[in-house]
Amino acid sequence: MMKMNFPVEKTVRARQSIRSYQETPIPAEVISKIRSYMEELTNPFSVEVSLHLLEKNVTSNGEKLGTYGVIKGASHFIGASVAPCELGLEALGYSFEKLILYITSLGLGTCWLGGTFDRSAFSSAMKRNPDEFFPVISPFGYAQEKKRMLESMMRFVAKSDQRQEWSALFFEEDFAHPLTQAAAGDYAFPLEMLRLAPSAVNKQPWRVVKSNGHFHFYKIHSEKESKLGIDIQRTDVGIAACHFHLSAQERDLIGHFTRLKNPILQAPGLDYLFSWVKE
Ligand SMILES: Cc1cc2nc3c(=O)[nH]c(=O)nc-3n(C[C@H](O)[C@H](O)[C@H](O)COP(=O)(O)O)c2cc1C
Repeated sequence: MMKMNFPVEKTVRARQSIRSYQETPIPAEVISKIRSYMEELTNPFSVEVSLHLLEKNVTSNGEKLGTYGVIKGASHFIGASVAPCELGLEALGYSFEKLILYITSLGLGTCWLGGTFDRSAFSSAMKRNPDEFFPVISPFGYAQEKKRMLESMMRFVAKSDQRQEWSALFFEEDFAHPLTQAAAGDYAFPLEMLRLAPSAVNKQPWRVVKSNGHFHFYKIHSEKESKLGIDIQRTDVGIAACHFHLSAQERDLIGHFTRLKNPILQAPGLDYLFSWVKE
């Protein structure tokens, strides 16, 4: 039996968006580990997420697939798709991030791409079902030691090395009272790992409120969906749920995710998504 687990904190802290890759080939056994991991991947939202792996970024007629100059040197890509449904994009965010963290634990770099890639070329190369949403892909490979100027600029503009403070993200009973690390108790660790999660343009749209020992997940309301009907921030909250869940599992904190029919709090500018219910 292959060992599929990884240390959560070390892996979460090691992950960073990598946009420049070495030409060094990835050994076949590493690719096969990734394939096995993809086959076994599940998410707690009971939604089927399709994962795709592309070993050469060329189409059948030899054309190179584009990332608009953002990614350099990568020849391996993963992608994810999901049928439009309740908590579908959240489940996709969860599953894809779990795969990204596994790949990170193998010593490889990755970079979530929701915008800067040629969606239709990757879509046909990955042979995804056209009825499904196809919001993201990621290259993977060995990172170049030195970042390119464009890459450093992108990190600077998105403030990629920074995250918002606890007081802006986590709340107690209502959105007027910030949750302290002390009041979070055992859950300070899952919440801190959640805070380090990646998000599109580093927006960090997740908000969590603790009430009666349970944790309710919200996202900042997005004014518009993309023209493809995809609200990428729902994916971001799925990523956050992944970091939270893996950390909770590692510390034996028992609970499950569910979408409550009547969420306890409605807040202007925030959309309720799901809750972590302690058992
Ligand atoms: C859903 C999602 C979509 C993203 N889309 C892009 C993208 O299109 N192009 C890009 O260069 N980076 C993209 N990123 C990377 C973010 O900019 C990056 O995660 C964020 O700035 C935090 O930096 P870090 O990943 O190094 O921690 C995306 C990240 C996420 C989670």
